[in-house]
Amino acid sequence: MSTPISSMTLAALAVALLSMILLSMWDSKLMNSHKISDHIKTMAQDKVPKLKLNNGLLMPALGLGTWLSSPNEVTQAVKDAIDLGYRHIDCAFVYGNENEVGLAIKAKIEEGVVKREDLFITSKLWNTFHRPGLVEGAVRTSLERLGLDYLNLYLIHMPMGLQEGDGLVPFDKDGKFISSDTDIVDTYKAMEELVKKGLTKSIGVSNFNKAQIQRILDNCSIPPATNQVECHPYLTQVKLIEYCKSKDITVTAYSQFGSPASPFRKPEDPVALQDPVIGGIATKHGKKAGHVILRWILQRGLIAIPKSVTQQRIAENIDILDFTLADSEMKEIDALNRNIRICSNDIFRSHKDYPFNDEY
Ligand SMILES: NC(=O)c1ccc[n+]([C@@H]2O[C@H](COP(=O)([O-])OP(=O)(O)OC[C@H]3O[C@@H](n4cnc5c(N)ncnc54)[C@H](OP(=O)(O)O)[C@@H]3O)[C@@H](O)[C@H]2O)c1
Repeated sequence: MSTPISSMTLAALAVALLSMILLSMWDSKLMNSHKISDHIKTMAQDKVPKLKLNNGLLMPALGLGTWLSSPNEVTQAVKDAIDLGYRHIDCAFVYGNENEVGLAIKAKIEEGVVKREDLFITSKLWNTFHRPGLVEGAVRTSLERLGLDYLNLYLIHMPMGLQEGDGLVPFDKDGKFISSDTDIVDTYKAMEELVKKGLTKSIGVSNFNKAQIQRILDNCSIPPATNQVECHPYLTQVKLIEYCKSKDITVTAYSQFGSPASPFRKPEDPVALQDPVIGGIATKHGKKAGHVILRWILQRGLIAIPKSVTQQRIAENIDILDFTLADSEMKEIDALNRNIRICSNDIFRSHKDYPFNDEY
């Protein structure tokens, strides 16, 4: 004879069943969200294209910029970036935050998220260290701050050497910067020694014009792997890029959004992220303006290094691997060029090596 089920037992069973259903719903939601984030990470790691440098080494075509990332924000930003699949971080001595970038790299290696060899870390030689005898000390300082044994890429930050000393920009009593009389070719030769000593895998230049690159090429034994220059829809750099490509030098585009928070912007400078042409293309693809700009950079065969300390934007900026701009759309963006340079480093305009007086 079956035992009659009391109403209390029925209620308990109902509660248990409901809990199981709710728990399984919550669990599958949780599992799905894990699956999704794992999926994004795998996609990002697998699909960020890598460019082959002229020394045979590979450089991820998308990295995280760190200029103007405050020391108290950059550690989390770099950690988020690595979690989201970024493997390339663009740093510089002069950004004043290499220690904090280094903390994030150390944490992610210790957590087992990445190995050192998975990462591509760039730093840059500041202008007051151009004298050949100072170059090795400068890279060693950046390495110590970043907590690394070697860099993947070390760049001459700008062609303009400044008087060696403590300040980042030395000024005379009249308020004019004091330059150094070093020759960029001698500085570059000291950079080559860093490769031979294993302190960096690759070397390159930044903010160099065609004539300056040609001088380096005419006098070097290790050609620059990249020239890192400002490049965005209002400064498309067509001729300089064509020249670099013809010499097997990659181009890394900096300030690709036009550096909206740059202290060097003038009030009349247009904001690429708000450009209606870019906005229209973004709407067609169900994407945002930032996605379209980064895609345009990548499809030109360049390397992009968007800076953000905002987790959502760091995620957005790598979410560019699932759509393609048509040739006509690429051309529409190319046509926005107005040769507007935000990082014009005007204070150095009278320097013998100021690069932006030449057409390119
Ligand atoms: N070699 C050189 O001389 C040189 C010069 C300049 C820059 N660089 C390098 O290039 C990197 C990038 O250039 P940049 O920092 O001048 O400017 P950028 O990447 O063009 O723009 C960065 C700015 O855009 C915001 N942002 C980022 N992603 C966004 C998105 N998806 N939507 C809307 N806003 C977004 C950021 O804000 P939040 O951070 O607040 O999110 C930040 O204010 C630098 O960080 C640096 O590593 C090199």
